Amino acid sequence: MLVFKASEKLKMHLNSKAQKIGLVPTMGGLHRGHSTLIKKACCDNDVVVVSIYVNPTQFNDLNDLKKYPFDITSDKSFLSQFSKNVIIYNPGHDEMYPSGIKSKSYDFGSIALHMEGKFRPGHFNGVATVIEKLFKEIRPNNAYFGEKDYQQTQIIKALNRSLNLDVKIISCPTEREDDGLAISTRNKFLNSRQRSAAKKIYYALQELKVKKTKKFDVMKGFFINTVELSEDLKVEYFYIASIDNLIPVEKFHKHKKYRIFIAVLAGNTRLIDNEEIKFN
Ligand code: PAJ
Repeated sequence: MLVFKASEKLKMHLNSKAQKIGLVPTMGGLHRGHSTLIKKACCDNDVVVVSIYVNPTQFNDLNDLKKYPFDITSDKSFLSQFSKNVIIYNPGHDEMYPSGIKSKSYDFGSIALHMEGKFRPGHFNGVATVIEKLFKEIRPNNAYFGEKDYQQTQIIKALNRSLNLDVKIISCPTEREDDGLAISTRNKFLNSRQRSAAKKIYYALQELKVKKTKKFDVMKGFFINTVELSEDLKVEYFYIASIDNLIPVEKFHKHKKYRIFIAVLAGNTRLIDNEEIKFN
């Protein structure tokens, strides 16, 4: 499998023939969630670049960055199950941040203000900085992101639009464990009690979707009570936001589209998830 560390060499390789390029940006620690994106990218493109870069500027918690798993050997062997047209781009900090590890500052308006934008200050500036760089260097036709990080995907769509980067952004559904827990690189930090309790998150989200109430406080209370029945879990936030602008609301209209956004702490491990919800 081809692994590039330098963008110049990667660009030379990609530009050596006319081909449709797919990009799947990741931070490694690859799992079945990433596979959904890679498989879709392999179907749609002639060549698929999987970037693996643990981006320091999007971590607002230094401990989270320090313990973030990085194992290029295991990621390489994980990627060998896919088409031969998958190549790895694994840049170092010098390549990604030649003038020092610092994110650019963007204004994404309301979509960056709440949920992860509020609880992880600076996070989306960090994400956008590396994605802008990857898009400009690789010039992919298509780029793949997960619904698991719904707000992040909306930020990237906005970035792409505002800078006219001309990449087709493809959003892929959330891949889950058998009990519904959204697959995440951070799930491996859960101890067995936390892991077992964490199934309540998806359970509560599903119950909310079928509950016949429009009362926000009742829904929020139900979610918190269900999840915090286990003393191993603490709800950090529960919001229902309109999908147009990602602004949280507490009154709902029949014909508008909403999503529930949650973050739950299991010890030091942060779990996020989101689900569409309809009000008839
Ligand atoms: P990472 O957490 O490695 O995720 C890479 C991509 O995989 C993201 O688009 C994410 O939404 C998607 N993904 C993760 N778990 C998923 C799941 N269970 N189901 C479906 N998709 C899933 O997100 C990042 O890295 C970084 O912020 C990045 C975009 C690479 C910028 O540094």
